[in-house]
Amino acid sequence: MRLLITGGAGFMGSNFIRYLIRTYPTYEIINFDKLTYAGNLENLKEVENNPRYQFVRGDISDADAVSVAIRGVDAVVNFAAETHVDRSIMDPTAFIRTDIFGTYTLLEAVKKYGVGRMIQISTDEVYGSVAEGEADESHPFEPNSPYSASKAGGDHLCRAYVKTYGTPVIVTHGCNFYGPNQYPEKFIPLFVTNLIEGKKVPLYGDGRNIREWIYTEDHCRAVDRIVHDGKLGEVYNIGSGERYTNIEVVEMILQEFGGGDEMIEYVQDRPGHDRRYALDSSKIRRELGWNPEVSFRDGLTKTIAWYKENQVWWKKLKSGEYLEYYMKLYGG
Ligand code: NAD
Ligand code: DAU
Repeated sequence: MRLLITGGAGFMGSNFIRYLIRTYPTYEIINFDKLTYAGNLENLKEVENNPRYQFVRGDISDADAVSVAIRGVDAVVNFAAETHVDRSIMDPTAFIRTDIFGTYTLLEAVKKYGVGRMIQISTDEVYGSVAEGEADESHPFEPNSPYSASKAGGDHLCRAYVKTYGTPVIVTHGCNFYGPNQYPEKFIPLFVTNLIEGKKVPLYGDGRNIREWIYTEDHCRAVDRIVHDGKLGEVYNIGSGERYTNIEVVEMILQEFGGGDEMIEYVQDRPGHDRRYALDSSKIRRELGWNPEVSFRDGLTKTIAWYKENQVWWKKLKSGEYLEYYMKLYGG
């Protein structure tokens, strides 16, 4: 099988490429990535010299570049996106360009070159804040940030291409990912790296927002199931069912560090901050036999250990451009 992985230099894309190379000894992978601030080829050191792996620098919004990369592949898995909610609040431009127009460009190429299937990696955030119960795949879209609205736009295009042209697309809605190689602007890696540096952690609002967490390896196995046996035209939620308030997560992290509540700094809330995400993931469990295997406690312990052991990786990212952005947010 020959796969085009877009956004493969980012957090989950790079974990998925390493997973595929490890799991399938004959698969060929093309990693197509623009290398924005979030793209990092160091995430792929393990596979960079493998003859079954090839890197192409390119933008999913660039139809010419996409048409060269896509020819002859059996499947496309689209991880490429602008992904950080706070950045989308500061400037939505790149989100609209990549998450909507980029998705459209890929759909056009999949249609034109007769690619067997495209998996669109999307998010539970398109359902908006779920006050109670769980959102299944038929839950209405109620995005509340420029990020989730852009992802919802891409998902709507996928649906339209399925219905109008019969384009072979599957959309996934994943809950919050965590694990090795996550850029240290997101909640868990930001808090873990701050604590390693002896700094306080900035908790938004009252800290009682609820998120559902899935470990990298579990998400890779879910996408693997969908690439191989997912039904074309369908949508699959990918959730673990493990939901915690942000304060509960901070307490678990602090336990690993032996620190107390004095390390928490309550800061201004995120505008439009979704209160709660909760997925009903019974469809992928029932139809594709996938189940998460890593508990949040175990995944968190492994993640903290990875950030302790890979300080060179994240210290580079927490300097320079990142620092400038962080200062803008917190005025530090
Ligand atoms: P990330 O921000 O770590 O990486 C995104 C990657 O996409 C980077 O390598 C970047 O260079 C690349 N990219 C950005 N714009 C591009 C463009 N125009 N053309 C080509 N490449 C481009 O992302 P992530 O956190 O690994 O998320 C991957 C996907 O999963 C995204 O689609 C995101 O919406 C979705 N998702 C993420 C989470 C999460 O918790 N992180 C949860 C659910 C869904
Ligand atoms: O739910 C899936 C989504 O999860 C993905 O689609 C997004 O790409 C991904 O970024 C993530 O979005 P969140 O907004 O949920 O993740 P983030 O890590 O930014 O924040 C998690 C929670 O922690 C959220 O309630 C905000 C809070 N938070 C975050 C940061 C960065 C803080 O309290 N302080 C912080 O400094």
